[in-house]
Amino acid sequence: MTDSKQAGIAKDILKTIDALEDLPSFPNAILKLNEKIADQGAGIGDFAAIIESDIALTAHILKLVNSPFYISLGGEVTSVRQALVRIGISEVQNVCMAFGAVNMFSKTSERVPLKSFWQHSLSCALLSKEIVAKLGFSSSDMELAFTAGLFHDVGIFLLDIHFSDLFQEVVKDAAKTHRSTLVVEDEKLGLNHAYIAARVFKRWNLSERLINIVENHHTPDRCPAGDKILCQAVHIADFIVASQGAFENSVHLMPDSSSEGAWHDLGLDVSDTPDLLRLAQLELERAEQFLGISQS
Ligand SMILES: [Fe+2]
Ligand SMILES: [Fe+2]
Repeated sequence: MTDSKQAGIAKDILKTIDALEDLPSFPNAILKLNEKIADQGAGIGDFAAIIESDIALTAHILKLVNSPFYISLGGEVTSVRQALVRIGISEVQNVCMAFGAVNMFSKTSERVPLKSFWQHSLSCALLSKEIVAKLGFSSSDMELAFTAGLFHDVGIFLLDIHFSDLFQEVVKDAAKTHRSTLVVEDEKLGLNHAYIAARVFKRWNLSERLINIVENHHTPDRCPAGDKILCQAVHIADFIVASQGAFENSVHLMPDSSSEGAWHDLGLDVSDTPDLLRLAQLELERAEQFLGISQS
């Protein structure tokens, strides 16, 4: 493909993305909950009141906390306040974020299987948070890593839904040439899903840090210095989870390689891989629980 044809496609994609009027918006109660959690003076009563303002979210949390996955922690839970005490605010926040994300992006083509997409994204979010926690980062950085992990691949959704023919060509070519879609996106479209997600996040006025991490999740060495280590954590989590999941095989999303610099800067090496793989497997199962509940 000529450079000018590629540049033309990239320009058309960006023009369309910038003009989209029906972009989904994040549920208000979850945005408010995130703000309240960041507010040091807030407590369980404040969190419960916000969650209870959203009936669907409340029902989802009660259903999950009473599912076999959590029921071993105690008897039946009948209020959001009890749920917060039972599994903790951090886990409730994870559940809320996953619920919001799945509800925002719930339609796609058969090219992108919904359940395995969200299982991949949520596992990446959970593993990113674990890696950042092990490094001793603050809870707000842990949440940022989680959110970035959750949303890192939504550019795939946007490509699949809004540029269906082009994306179909990308997926076909990736399958035929045994390359990752990322490489073929760059080659055929002149941009990739990471860039598209960042572009939309700017329109949503999401934080610059989140945008930096998502935009560079395949190229962490290019991430601005202040966010580089979190970006590296998401990058490694994505790589490890991708090696275990089914989603990557279906759309050939498996990255070809991971950044050596990221492994080094996170203090990880090849001897940590079995532990990370085990953790990823656990997170995939945990993600499956969250999603199994949300789809039932
Ligand atoms: Fe990606
Ligand atoms: Fe990914």
